[in-house]
Amino acid sequence: MGLVSGAGLSDFGHQVVCADIDEKKIALLQSGTIPIYEPGLKELVARNEEKGRLTFTTDVGNAVKEADVVFIAVGTPPAEDGMADLSAVKSVARLIGRNLDGYKVVCTKSTVPVGTGQLVQEIIEKYKTTKGEFDYCSNPEFLREGSAVGDFLRPDRVILGATSDRAFEYLRDVYRPLYINETPIIHTTVETAEMIKYASNAFLALKISYINEIANLCEAVGADVHVVAKAMGIDGRISPKFLHPGPGFGGSCFPKDTQALVTQAAKWGVDIRTITAAIVSNQAQKERMVMKLKTLLGGELKGKTVALLGLAFKPETDDVRESPAVEMIKQLQQAGAQVRGYDPAATKTIQQVFPNLPVFPSWESAVEQADVAVIMTEWNEFRGMDLARLKALLRQPLVLDCRNILNIAELERLGFHYDNVGRKIPRK
Ligand code: UGA
Repeated sequence: MGLVSGAGLSDFGHQVVCADIDEKKIALLQSGTIPIYEPGLKELVARNEEKGRLTFTTDVGNAVKEADVVFIAVGTPPAEDGMADLSAVKSVARLIGRNLDGYKVVCTKSTVPVGTGQLVQEIIEKYKTTKGEFDYCSNPEFLREGSAVGDFLRPDRVILGATSDRAFEYLRDVYRPLYINETPIIHTTVETAEMIKYASNAFLALKISYINEIANLCEAVGADVHVVAKAMGIDGRISPKFLHPGPGFGGSCFPKDTQALVTQAAKWGVDIRTITAAIVSNQAQKERMVMKLKTLLGGELKGKTVALLGLAFKPETDDVRESPAVEMIKQLQQAGAQVRGYDPAATKTIQQVFPNLPVFPSWESAVEQADVAVIMTEWNEFRGMDLARLKALLRQPLVLDCRNILNIAELERLGFHYDNVGRKIPRK
């Protein structure tokens, strides 16, 4: 998020310095290597570096000194108590305080619990020198991995929770190209801005869990969840987006943010039962996929060779954090299955989690002589898969399509035994 935002802001015409204490990361960026897989990011970075608008440094203090606006874009991973771990945010707030040498706007993009803005301001106040002066703004991001560049350059809305009109004017200036494009800019308080981010992510997660449960019911009653979702989505009040059933939501955001929302609400004595239910439902959905696979394999996982196609939590990313594939691998290994995988981008990242997992260079090599193929991520490569070839390579024609991307008529025609999420009960 930091790199995409930095590169995106430089594309808006600003002079941007991306600063990080991670020397390895900065060295990679300085040598023109993008440390993550994110479509369009390399080009965006290169274009702005060439124009001299985008640079990278490990001298965070100096980067703060030279800036008019400082964005905090550090990670807020889950803490043990379910809340977001704010140690990086606090540490960078101290650093900003120490280097504040005139008026600046300090702006948080990281996803932080309500009240963090207040805390950041207190820390900066405590550490700042007498010359230091600042206003604060909460500016949450809504970037999706895999389409982050487009999301940054063409957002649905910009949220500015600013503590003063001066800070708001600074930020509106930063986002001028969007302002000119009539992108809605919501000017609000810090607390409201912080809340908007959690409320949005948790709602989308809830929507996914909802359609997953409807899909499960579709299986029981013999209905097709795709038609149900399509028809629901035509209603403008519902919208068709985030109504795709699957193996449960993953990634670095929804699992952590739903948990953090519920935990912070509880601290205020508020029960968010719907989101608690979405979390429980999501875990059950991940486990349900394992049960489906077991059924498809005749009730026995032990000794079976399972080829997982797609390991990232969604397509167009190499991120495997909280990926449904990770849960699947753990459970299958525990049950004594031989698991192997293939992913167009996530080979390295999955091997950081499972160093001994055999990861193949193509889907064809991964499924060869396997007992079953499981589609875990809806990469385009799998959508266009030659099913006759799949059948020829597998030991037996068995496939579990957790993303509903394979053509059912074709699977039937080729004599596959298959299952999916809410579209077809496998033949007995
Ligand atoms: C999510 C939000 O969509 C972004 O707006 C937000 O900025 C980001 O979190 C964040 O807080 O940083 P992201 O996690 O990158 O973005 O990816 P999504 O496209 O939202 O997908 C999340 C998970 O939900 C994936 O596992 C995906 O497969 C699953 N999903 C999504 C479904 O199962 N069904 C759907 O219909 C949509």
